[in-house]
Amino acid sequence: MRRLFPSTAVPGPAPEWSTEELAEEYAYPPVGEGSDEAGWWLRGNMVASLDGAVHHGGRSQPLSSRTDMWIFGVLRALADVVVVGAQTVRQEGYGPAKRRSGFAGRRAAQGQAPVPAVAVVSAGLELDFSLPLFTEPVVPTLLVTGRGAPEDRVARAREAGVEVLFAGEGSAVDPALVPGLLARRGLRRQLTEGGPTLLGEFAGAGVLDELCLSISPRIVAGSAPRIMNGPVLPDPDEYVLDGVLEEDGFLFTRYRRSRVVAE
Ligand SMILES: NC(=O)c1ccc[n+]([C@@H]2O[C@H](COP(=O)([O-])OP(=O)(O)OC[C@H]3O[C@@H](n4cnc5c(N)ncnc54)[C@H](OP(=O)(O)O)[C@@H]3O)[C@@H](O)[C@H]2O)c1
Repeated sequence: MRRLFPSTAVPGPAPEWSTEELAEEYAYPPVGEGSDEAGWWLRGNMVASLDGAVHHGGRSQPLSSRTDMWIFGVLRALADVVVVGAQTVRQEGYGPAKRRSGFAGRRAAQGQAPVPAVAVVSAGLELDFSLPLFTEPVVPTLLVTGRGAPEDRVARAREAGVEVLFAGEGSAVDPALVPGLLARRGLRRQLTEGGPTLLGEFAGAGVLDELCLSISPRIVAGSAPRIMNGPVLPDPDEYVLDGVLEEDGFLFTRYRRSRVVAE
């Protein structure tokens, strides 16, 4: 057993991190470059309260902190695509990813677009296509749905300039198909920001490679879901600890799926 905190390794004040150092810490592993194979890496990023809630009053912001949002921003800036469930878009008022001058060179060098695309997963497509997420993105927002999605809403999304991708034959998306679908479009460094329904589906489908979980030193009680809210897995899936950072009582943990590590 090791004591990570309080740390005895380096006495004195905690070192300051630069955004570049944080970007190195969270850099994606090499995925599929130079090969025809649609390699990909799907990382989840969530914040939870000490008692396991993912929101307070329907928003994750009350659980977050300045440093949590800094990491959130760095993870976005490293990704090719941000995959998010429609309810989170509706409830959190999602906007498009913003350009960040500090990452422009890094992204260009890696052959990435200036910002990650946002891919919204939805079955019902009850979305407001007049929102900036759909009308003002730097790179076009994608909508991932099933082939059985309501045709009139698919048409409405297309009229609004949104590209509709199909992953699954019914109205629901088959989560197992999503990473490959995006990777075949060159979107290999994948980040999902949940919410709990979508994240639980990715985990259940066995496609979640990594989980960046911020543990917030706050208790909210109530009945908010955990970071994954869906059918129970037949067996617990093992993840291995890859890193822990701490600031202001927040733990910024990073776990990789053990099957991935063993490969
Ligand atoms: N703490 C955090 O880090 C964090 C992160 C994200 C969200 N949240 C919170 O989580 C809450 C929302 O939770 P949630 O679980 O409802 O959100 P969610 O997973 O973002 O959204 C659920 C919706 O996504 C779509 N969806 C999910 N799986 C699908 C599938 N297989 N096929 C087709 N569509 C699918 C459906 O949209 P349609 O209804 O359009 O069909 C479904 O209603 C919010 O309060 C938000 O603040 C917290």
